[in-house]
Amino acid sequence: MMNDSHIFHRTAGVVPPRASHGEGVWITATDGRRYLDACGGAAVSCLGHGDPAVVRALSDQAAQLAYAHTSFFTTEAAEDLANLLVRNAPEGLGRVYFLCDGSEAIETAIKMAHQYHRETGGAARRHVIARQQSYHGNTLGALSAGGNAWRRTTYDGLLLPATSHIAPCWAYRHQTPGESDSDYAARAAGSLETEILRLGPENVSCFIAETVVGATLGCVPPSPGYFRQIRDICDRYGVLLILDEVMCGMGRTGTLHACEQEGISPDILVVAKGLGAGYVPLGAVICSDRIHDAFVDGSGSFTHGHTFVGHPVACAAALAVQREIASRDLLNNVRLRGAELHGALGARLAVHPHVGDIRGRGLFLALEFVADRQDKTPFAPERHVHRALRDAAFRKGLLIYAMAGTIDGRRGDHILLAPPYTVTTQEVQQVADRLADAVTEVFATP
Ligand SMILES: Cc1ncc(COP(=O)(O)O)c(C=O)c1O
Repeated sequence: MMNDSHIFHRTAGVVPPRASHGEGVWITATDGRRYLDACGGAAVSCLGHGDPAVVRALSDQAAQLAYAHTSFFTTEAAEDLANLLVRNAPEGLGRVYFLCDGSEAIETAIKMAHQYHRETGGAARRHVIARQQSYHGNTLGALSAGGNAWRRTTYDGLLLPATSHIAPCWAYRHQTPGESDSDYAARAAGSLETEILRLGPENVSCFIAETVVGATLGCVPPSPGYFRQIRDICDRYGVLLILDEVMCGMGRTGTLHACEQEGISPDILVVAKGLGAGYVPLGAVICSDRIHDAFVDGSGSFTHGHTFVGHPVACAAALAVQREIASRDLLNNVRLRGAELHGALGARLAVHPHVGDIRGRGLFLALEFVADRQDKTPFAPERHVHRALRDAAFRKGLLIYAMAGTIDGRRGDHILLAPPYTVTTQEVQQVADRLADAVTEVFATP
């Protein structure tokens, strides 16, 4: 395509095709080509494209009141959405702070934890513990918490020093032969306690983790019991638990919140992406009453804030999204179609010599590719297997989310599937067929 664009594109100087319109799981480009959106962009478009109820809610709210600054007003749209989120929140979470996206929401959560400790006499608690091979966003605080080596490297020297990273809970690569699931979960969780003790509990503010690790590892659910032990360790040392469900939350794994399947509540839950389903940019921090009370009883205000906090149009659209998901029982569809997709991928690719693992929950699934299935050796990074897969799928009219650096930020390739919750059985089969064709094509050339 001619470079007639003034946008600073993701790949500088390369102009992607123009998307024209969307309907359901399909996106059509201006050249008329149709793409099956099997990854919802980046696990965003959970309701599909062009939902009339959401479009109506957006336009009604824009006509009624597009914007009111939160230092003067609250709005019905924001209050109603907060009520709905709290009604369905994990136990103990009672207050919502709205932001524009996942990174802003993560920044807010980290700062909220920090100020909470200052309000309650723990001013030394500054340290953030997170996990290697996690992603929490691209603003500097969120990037500092993230353990994605590739994304961090460029900003070496600019990231917050008071962060450290423990190993992820990743059975496929870290559970040793002969080690039981529960022994592995205990070992993985135990590394948090070791790190808290190394730093001194009185210095640790929070532990932040993706409940199901998304982009960086490729849909890795925790081993059974891992998060219950993490919860206990955090409680033992007064460390706040922040769960980042920006990607895996809001229904993506088959329950509204991924942590429901772990049987725990965090102190702070962060959601975005599926909250607004791509109709609006929106994120939210849902915190415990205990944290909110500490601000009420303390200084009275959170030293934070952005211009577009609680944007009424964004909140009205997200409210419509969440009502659609509930009234059409779409989480049931996530579970049913997710199982079908998992099965269809397994039927076509489970014995493929370069498919090492097919994993995930609900409509949040990933395939990890390896040079050798037996010893799980990854492909040489120079081969850019993930990119070849993404490009082959794109040529076949299939959108997949492809990433490199699965193992350590450099080695490893995976692709992620996260279609809209409205996906049908027939579309699930199309996703699996097109992906299998792309995989065959890419590995046909040695
Ligand atoms: C788990 C997780 N946290 C945070 C973010 C950052 O969200 P955003 O890109 O909306 O800033 C992402 C984005 O992919 C994510 O996957």
